[in-house]
Amino acid sequence: MKILVTGSKGQLGIDVVNHLSRYYEVVGLDKDDLDITNLESVLNCINEVNPDVIINCAAYTNVDGCEENQDLAYKINGIGARNLAIASNKNDIKLVHISTDFVFDGETDSVYTEFDNSNPLSVYGKSKKAGEDFIKKMSSKYFILRTAWLYGKNGNNFVKTMLRLAETNDTLKIVDDQVGTPTFTEDLVEVIAMVIKTEKYGTYHVSNDGKCSWYDFAKKIFEISNVDIKVLPITTEELGRPAKRPKYSVMRNYMLELEFDYHIRSWESALEGYFK
Ligand SMILES: NC(=O)c1ccc[n+]([C@@H]2O[C@H](COP(=O)([O-])OP(=O)(O)OC[C@H]3O[C@@H](n4cnc5c(N)ncnc54)[C@H](OP(=O)(O)O)[C@@H]3O)[C@@H](O)[C@H]2O)c1
Repeated sequence: MKILVTGSKGQLGIDVVNHLSRYYEVVGLDKDDLDITNLESVLNCINEVNPDVIINCAAYTNVDGCEENQDLAYKINGIGARNLAIASNKNDIKLVHISTDFVFDGETDSVYTEFDNSNPLSVYGKSKKAGEDFIKKMSSKYFILRTAWLYGKNGNNFVKTMLRLAETNDTLKIVDDQVGTPTFTEDLVEVIAMVIKTEKYGTYHVSNDGKCSWYDFAKKIFEISNVDIKVLPITTEELGRPAKRPKYSVMRNYMLELEFDYHIRSWESALEGYFK
């Protein structure tokens, strides 16, 4: 099997390329090699590489940045996904696309399954939903994998930010009224590796098990890494970020349970795995 990975130098893209290269022929391309917003480039590249599977790890992931750069957000997260859908459908290629819990509004305190309606609050969430919608309409062999609060050994993420801030601060104020599920890239990569071998197409939630607030997450990071620091809870309003975020975007990996009888470890044990 030959696999093309877009956004290959991002946090997830690096792990996907490293892991799948052990088993398959993998071509990893980042923005400089393939800009997914350009349909002609995408079509040419896919003709040339001729993969069996495309894994789209490319995205504009700066949630607050998307509010300021709306055009770029829709171009990368919406039209970029459309371009990959067109190219993969034309060439009968399986397409794996990564989406987000931010497609939900988080207004209730019940867990979301893949059968619940999305209703994004931010430009980032809307642009990711646009990408999902294009793919659902234009690609017949797709896996949309919605993940959440992603962190891994490469790239930027909340775990690394916490550890960096702890080097120069005695106290950190962290938001306690947004609840979701931190997800380790390596657990998401395992799911990608599993689904691409099948034809069980559709939308899947892929997050670690359980839930916490960013405040709980920060406390756990410092507990596991033995960093002595005071963490204080604050509200989203106090932090005052430009993009609206869901209050409760906990997802159940219901399709993974139904289709694969697959269960992912808790976010706490995944975090311990990260530090090992
Ligand atoms: N990070 C999270 O907490 C989180 C949570 C839920 C879902 N997700 C989803 O998970 C996926 C992977 O996220 P990540 O954390 O790995 O993001 P990331 O580290 O920001 O990686 C995204 C990659 O895409 C590249 N890229 C940007 N524009 C591109 C373009 N036009 N053409 C090709 N490549 C382009 C970026 O390059 P530059 O850096 O050079 O721009 C970067 O290498 C995304 O779909 C994201 O929406 C992430």
